[in-house]
Amino acid sequence: MSSRFRVLNAYGPTILSLLLLLLYQPTEAHVIDRAVSSAPVRERISINADWRFWRSETNPDGLIYDQRSEGSVQVLKPWILPSANDFIANEANQNVRPAGNPGGNVSFVQMSFDDSEWEAVKLPHDWAIKGPFYTGDSPVVGGGMGRLPSHGVGWYRRKLSKNKTDEGRTIYLDIDGAMSYAMVWLNGNLVGGWPYPYNSFRLDITPYLNVGDDNQLAIRLDNPNDSARWYPGGGLYRNIWITKVDSTHVAQYGTFIMTRDVSSSSATVDLSVRVENKGATSRQIEVATDVHVFDPVRGVARAKVAEFERSSVTLAAGEKQVLDGSVTVANPRLWGPAPVQKPYLYVAITRLYTHNQTIDSYQTRFGIRSLTYDANQGLLVNGELIHIQGVNNHHDLGALGAAFNVRAAERQLEIMQEMGVNAIRMSHNPPAPELLDLTDRMGIMVLDEVFDTWQHNKTANDFHLIFDDWHEPDLRAFIRRDRNHASIVSWSYGNEVGEQYDGKAGAAVSQMLLDILHEEDPTRPASISMNYAGPDLPFSAVPDIINLNYRGNGIRDTPAYSNQVGIRTEPQYPAYHAAFPEKLIFSSETASTLSTRGTFIFPVVNATSAPVNETSGSSEADMQVSAYELYSANFGSSPDKVFGTQDASPFVAGEFVWTGFDYIGEPTPYYTARSSYSGIVDLAGLKKDRFFLYQARWRPNLRTAHIVPHWTWPEREGLVTPVHVFSAADEAELFLNGESLGRKERGEAEYRFRWDEVVYVPGELRVVTYKDGEELANATARTAGDATALRITADRTQIQNDGYDLAYITVEVVDGDGNVVPRANNTIRFSVVDGDGEVAATDNGDPADFTVFHSTERKVFSGLALAIIRAVAGGSGTVTVEAASESLEGAIAEPVFQVSPKVPSTFRMLFYDASSNTTPGQLLWIDFLDVTSTMGFGGRKGYGSVWRFKLVGEGAR
Ligand SMILES: *[C@@H]1O[C@H](CO)[C@@H](O)[C@H](O)[C@H]1NC(C)=O
Ligand SMILES: *[C@@H]1O[C@H](CO)[C@@H](O)[C@H](O)[C@H]1NC(C)=O
Ligand SMILES: *[C@@H]1O[C@H](CO)[C@@H](O)[C@H](O)[C@H]1NC(C)=O
Ligand SMILES: *[C@@H]1O[C@H](CO)[C@@H](O)[C@H](O)[C@H]1NC(C)=O
Repeated sequence: MSSRFRVLNAYGPTILSLLLLLLYQPTEAHVIDRAVSSAPVRERISINADWRFWRSETNPDGLIYDQRSEGSVQVLKPWILPSANDFIANEANQNVRPAGNPGGNVSFVQMSFDDSEWEAVKLPHDWAIKGPFYTGDSPVVGGGMGRLPSHGVGWYRRKLSKNKTDEGRTIYLDIDGAMSYAMVWLNGNLVGGWPYPYNSFRLDITPYLNVGDDNQLAIRLDNPNDSARWYPGGGLYRNIWITKVDSTHVAQYGTFIMTRDVSSSSATVDLSVRVENKGATSRQIEVATDVHVFDPVRGVARAKVAEFERSSVTLAAGEKQVLDGSVTVANPRLWGPAPVQKPYLYVAITRLYTHNQTIDSYQTRFGIRSLTYDANQGLLVNGELIHIQGVNNHHDLGALGAAFNVRAAERQLEIMQEMGVNAIRMSHNPPAPELLDLTDRMGIMVLDEVFDTWQHNKTANDFHLIFDDWHEPDLRAFIRRDRNHASIVSWSYGNEVGEQYDGKAGAAVSQMLLDILHEEDPTRPASISMNYAGPDLPFSAVPDIINLNYRGNGIRDTPAYSNQVGIRTEPQYPAYHAAFPEKLIFSSETASTLSTRGTFIFPVVNATSAPVNETSGSSEADMQVSAYELYSANFGSSPDKVFGTQDASPFVAGEFVWTGFDYIGEPTPYYTARSSYSGIVDLAGLKKDRFFLYQARWRPNLRTAHIVPHWTWPEREGLVTPVHVFSAADEAELFLNGESLGRKERGEAEYRFRWDEVVYVPGELRVVTYKDGEELANATARTAGDATALRITADRTQIQNDGYDLAYITVEVVDGDGNVVPRANNTIRFSVVDGDGEVAATDNGDPADFTVFHSTERKVFSGLALAIIRAVAGGSGTVTVEAASESLEGAIAEPVFQVSPKVPSTFRMLFYDASSNTTPGQLLWIDFLDVTSTMGFGGRKGYGSVWRFKLVGEGAR
């Protein structure tokens, strides 16, 4: 084979560059509205920049939230608990802050401390993701938690400023999530904190903030080892904001919007607004709320569609009041899951006035939709039955770790939607708030989950340690933050909790939590995911709906699992349906099918579902699992088995597959590895074969066929090498080098076509599939030759320069004909050779690759590797990314990428339709439009009127 190669144009887009368009300058302040006098009335200012960070594996300062095992430490819990008071309903149970200022003497909180030696970081920041991985038999942090250094105490410091014009205003610190046991000091004073790392929280810093630029903020995080069953990450891993408001303002999560009597002609919108006066004197205010169409692309309000009756209220100093109102919206545009329905959104703008002057303006995005939880049919959205085609996802974003990134999350959702996903379960904790903005906008239903444990532990240092003090505030804060999101269709207040085993006592804990939840949201049903409690146990009777993990599909109930130890059950859907005929059933976890992308292991089991073990479907030495997509965790099932059990019980609302994406940690069955095997796509976001099995079921109108395995097996000549095909067809014919290996009909409860006796010879496999006798799709797999080149593609060629936006670059090793070399493992060196970009991380989806994610060198795994490119904040122009490999002897890896700047060819936009009969001002939703740069806008007649323009291109899909 040629030992040197040059990346040429011959293989598609080998010339790759990213055009960074200055779509907008990053704005620090998000000014929501302005007062008459023109000063902004409510400001939300990002303080993600300019932090200093330092971490210690042992306790460096003698502080702790609560006694764990350490000896002489100062316990700060009594000073932290009052931060939860807004979320404790019974005032008698609220906490009074003791006197004193613990931690005030620790040097890290003091202005005088010199932190210039500390690491300069930008948030969101995950201190653990840079590694290195702990390898070997007794790692400090085990495989369950991803073998990364997430443990320890981390300190973050930053300056804050206060303007003279801010005097008299209330200033809050809003932390979207801090991993974990956050404690906050300002100018040496302990302000408060929040232990649970997945909830957002707010602290009032007004009393501690001085006018000037020299206020010292210091945040201490403590991340115990053995705190989770998965990779938690560590640090200030979500966004942090300063919110400045008038001392009389809409309170935190201060609105709750419910919609009812929803039809296409009308809907009632109920609103409650909580207003708060933190000033020293009584205030008389007026409260007014308008409802507008929300434009999710530009993030702005459009036409006004309704107005709540204005109310007047007098608030004494320190008083809070709740004001309720209702309004009717005519001809509402309903929110519904894509692609069947459209995710229209509205925004309620609540303004507070004194003497006709605006003193606050608060926006609440919401959707109008009806949800019906029908025990015999499933979930109906706006009266239409929508089968749940869902996945579970963890919070980490693969190679970027737990540090939240909007684009990384959006890409995950896009890949899931491509597969046919219409729902996500947030397993097992509250998500970043921006993720719910994405699901609202993209039309993805959400099962929003708060806890993985209650009083019983799953690991030594998980939530059970603080359950007694924090279950109420954490549950209320979670619901209040998220309850206006249109995409949330149900709440989960627990996952596989130990209380399932506790008979009536466990049921009582569940009821206590459910009662709290109903107080915070009477509109959506809630449940907990059960993997043990049978239909006859008191625990199962408590929740509003039934969420089953694995039990619906049967556990270890087929012959292939007969040698496995553990409970054995038939598929339990019928038993639950009989026991709770009025309750909807969600399959909140299914499958736990395990595989590594592109890895096939022989022989292949004859069953439709089988456990992974040493002799079947796996290679322990390589830490890999076969991608024939038949092998599961020993309590799990293949997708095929899950489909069969659901089809046999059509009353089930659908499933949430465990999992959509691979995630860091929990690497069942090989805890010697770093990341999971359960994803339908791998940790890098590259599709496993299973993707096409789900796509065939969930998007049956797509004309697709997918062949498993690849067809490059030089060592298997003459050996039986089964061929499986995933397609929505009802018949399929397979050809090997032109010769038919038989046309097969899909049988009852069969979800793939199998030719299990195929004997390998190199060449070409081709399948033609049919539906109702007509050709549906075809696919070809060819034996690849020697690796000669790299092919490089980007998910997007224009990104924003906000310092967060990303381009995902995939590199394939290909032969001279452009076929992917399926077992190539060359080492690739990624670099940005020109322009304002940087390699943020690399990956290949191999669960056993311990190369740190920020490495710019990455081995190809099963032919593919990934690089994540980030534009430098404020940068501009073109970024040139190079992928080079020297592993092919003497390669001249000289890919020079150049592209000329051009106007983006794809717009996403909303418009007012001038050509149809819609009422002027009514907004129509249009998906992606391909529009050339010659398109012209014209005749925009002003707000709410007809907006005409000429479209050139493909038009609306
Ligand atoms: C203080 O506020 C005024 C009025 O809003 C503004 O013009 C000025 O730039 C602010 N100064 C600082 C340092 O933020
Ligand atoms: C508020 O404005 C309305 C109309 O602009 C006016 O009639 C009213 O007198 C004003 N009230 C106060 C208190 O200024
Ligand atoms: C629960 O915590 C205890 C210590 O508090 C620990 O010994 C035990 O292993 C934990 N249980 C699990 C399942 O990790
Ligand atoms: C596999 O299962 C099928 C159907 O049950 C059966 O006809 C076939 O003989 C089995 N093959 C092997 C090798 O066991």
